[in-house]
Amino acid sequence: MAAAVTSTVRSPINIQRWVQEHADQLKPPVSNKYLYRGKDFFVMVIGGPNARNDFHKTNSEEYFYQFKGDVCVSTIEDGKTVHHVIREGETFFIPPNVPHAPQRPPGTIGIVVERNRPAGETEHQQFYCPQCDALVWDEEFDCKDIVEHFAASMEAFWADKERSTCANCGTHIGKPAPVARLETEPVVRIVREGD
Ligand SMILES: [Fe+2]
Repeated sequence: MAAAVTSTVRSPINIQRWVQEHADQLKPPVSNKYLYRGKDFFVMVIGGPNARNDFHKTNSEEYFYQFKGDVCVSTIEDGKTVHHVIREGETFFIPPNVPHAPQRPPGTIGIVVERNRPAGETEHQQFYCPQCDALVWDEEFDCKDIVEHFAASMEAFWADKERSTCANCGTHIGKPAPVARLETEPVVRIVREGD
């Protein structure tokens, strides 16, 4: 990530006001905007809805603070999908190398802190089968390419029937519609537009 390092002290930011001022930039397809880009870490504000079913795996810690509304971050832990509901006002920490997939309903606002990646470090975009949790596809990127290649890689996966079909159980992973809402009872369910 080629970022201009912030070297001057900036005034404190009122998040509520900042979100209102940047509301037009917190919408799909991008939905995220940098709040800070520092030498060691960067902070993003991320709106909803998003429309993705890929998992991100990187040798970095990630810190989440949910500012408005409730979201779900799905993780792969011990080979199984786990849905973590992060409610408004809650924080969440993801250790390095845990595949994770944030699912953000409309109107939600989250804050994510990540470390800048050292040169030469790679990260992964992965797809896991929603039926059997098998790893269906694993794409490794050089971090400096990630911005351009992440979205293109997702599209290539969804467009390739063979690549996007689980070899273990035959389930096909298609291009997802935007998240419409989150159900948490009796089980966590991500409801998409058109479901
Ligand atoms: Fe499967």
